[in-house]
Amino acid sequence: MEKLALRAFLAVAGMAAVSSAAAQSNRLDIDLKNVGAPIQETMYGIFFEDINFAADGGLYAELVKNRSFEFPDDALQGWKAFGKVSVQDDGPFERCPHYVRLSDPGHAHKQTGLDNEGFFGIGVKAGSQYRFSVWARTDSRAVLRVELVNTASMGENHFVAQARVTVASKEWKKYTVVLTPSQILPKGTLRIFLETRGVSVDVEHVSLFPVDTWKGREGGLRKDLAQALADLHPGIFRFPGGCIVEGTDLDTRYNWKNTIGPVENRPLNENRWEYTFPHRFYPDYYQSYGLGFYEFFLLSEDIGAEPLPIVSCGLACQFQNGSPDAHVPVSELQPYIQDALDLIEFANGGVDTEWGRVRAGMGHPEPFNLKYIGIGNEQWDKLYPDHLEPFVKAIRKAHPEIRIVGSSGPDSEGRQFDYLWPEMRRLGADLVDEHFYRPYDWFLSQGARYDNYDRNGPKVFAGEYACHAQGRKWNHFYASLLEAAFMTGLERNADVVHMATYAPLFAHVEGWQWRPDLIWYDNLNSFRTVSWHVQQLYGQYKGRNTLKVQMDGRNVTGADGQNGLFASSVVDGSKIYVKVVNTTDRAQELTLNFTGLKKKQTVSAVTRINLTCTDLYKDNSLDDPCLIVPSEAPFAGQGQSIDTTIDPYCFTVFVLER
Ligand code: AHR
Repeated sequence: MEKLALRAFLAVAGMAAVSSAAAQSNRLDIDLKNVGAPIQETMYGIFFEDINFAADGGLYAELVKNRSFEFPDDALQGWKAFGKVSVQDDGPFERCPHYVRLSDPGHAHKQTGLDNEGFFGIGVKAGSQYRFSVWARTDSRAVLRVELVNTASMGENHFVAQARVTVASKEWKKYTVVLTPSQILPKGTLRIFLETRGVSVDVEHVSLFPVDTWKGREGGLRKDLAQALADLHPGIFRFPGGCIVEGTDLDTRYNWKNTIGPVENRPLNENRWEYTFPHRFYPDYYQSYGLGFYEFFLLSEDIGAEPLPIVSCGLACQFQNGSPDAHVPVSELQPYIQDALDLIEFANGGVDTEWGRVRAGMGHPEPFNLKYIGIGNEQWDKLYPDHLEPFVKAIRKAHPEIRIVGSSGPDSEGRQFDYLWPEMRRLGADLVDEHFYRPYDWFLSQGARYDNYDRNGPKVFAGEYACHAQGRKWNHFYASLLEAAFMTGLERNADVVHMATYAPLFAHVEGWQWRPDLIWYDNLNSFRTVSWHVQQLYGQYKGRNTLKVQMDGRNVTGADGQNGLFASSVVDGSKIYVKVVNTTDRAQELTLNFTGLKKKQTVSAVTRINLTCTDLYKDNSLDDPCLIVPSEAPFAGQGQSIDTTIDPYCFTVFVLER
């Protein structure tokens, strides 16, 4: 309530500033006669990569770290063993062979068991349900006591939830029990005691999930984080990255076939973000692949976005591998090409095909209707087109309906970019992925970036971007405002820009390697950054076709003489959305002047949505998740021309009706 009052006050204060400070009027001519290009359904979307503990410890709601005892440096990493505990390696799951044997501690007053520390602790809420499961076997009959504990507690008991599991089979079986904590624990521990004396129990794949996951799926996704994706109204969902696709070496590349089937048998992979930045080193960062390609496709479907998987093109990360020997020679690429073809079959094939059958076996007989595939991530030099070409040929032959996304390398311009774009054209890529993590001045100068792009070549996928201010490489309002300004240029050029995804998407406040990011969280709560709100506004007011907006006959791109204004406009039936970004510290007068109307036709103002903040370096946070959020403000007027104003440092969506 207080926050709403504050926002209302700021809006009024902003309006008062208008009358005194605004001097120069800016006429935006919006052409309603010549409706422009259609906006693709895929225009605004999501880029997912397992960086910053985005998967395990993030979107994937598993609360146990190293649940299969497969961490390679230490099978008990993340665990504390007490009493008589040994690690074995002939378990029931071929690709995750390790398990743990709990045996009698040898004295009536001693204990055998395990503690799991979770990801930066295990976060649980009072009164919520958590499903514990374990694969186990024993020669006789044994009781495991399972607890959620607060080891720092001064209370009589450490535990806030307790339950028992009786293991009574010589064969490996899955046992499940639900725990309901009596108290909230932001950083709890899962504790397992072997309660029965004189027996041994083998335990494997120890898991704890909230019962209340996204869509209620068992072993599913963290609800608040998945909801934050759905609320973006994304049109495209790119996964699984990023550099993670390539691998530090080819052995650690992302191999989608390892990420499907029963979770117990998905082999662990290292996560390159464990060690890429030694100044933020996480020796316990691995990929369990519990969130794998099937789950990615399902999530795409859930949130109404087209899936866009990216596969390895046989090049290990070129930042980390200078030698050509690190990569697969073109002559030996066939298994990689087959992986790409099999992926298309996994997504789209009938249940009578090999990979379609696998998909159906996982619970989705209907195809996922895959339309796009990306080959390689940030690749460069001649190596890339040489590797890409055989993929393009094979995919075109087997699946002419699939659209192929190539790459322009890691740079937003320069030698590699200038080399790769013509190469992508030559190879007939349908879209080209461009990346830009760039500073303020770059974003301020790129409003017209796509105005003169080749209209006949591949389309643009602005696949990774975020404003990284020098010395301020973290989330803050001003960076988000400049992203909004830049995005007017994406929208204006919707005939050539078909997809755009901010990156990276997720970050755990205690586990990040890279920032800024779109959505942050700890173990229990999350918040949406101002950049998220920028993306959300573009997604919500996407429109169906572009409309030309000009100032003095020029596109409104923040160019000289345009008073730091950026603008674009779209139409959706009778609705008109005009997006204007004021990147200056002055309130400005605006005239929205609609051309191409018949004499008696008018346009009516409906509402306006402002995203603004008086402190440029603030953002939302876990403590104050709604500090800076869009707010509706009065917007009145009717006619062929409507006078209005825009606050200093403000992104406004004007909503009108004709
Ligand atoms: O988004 C983080 C990284 O930035 C991606 O993995 C990579 O593609 C880019 O360099």
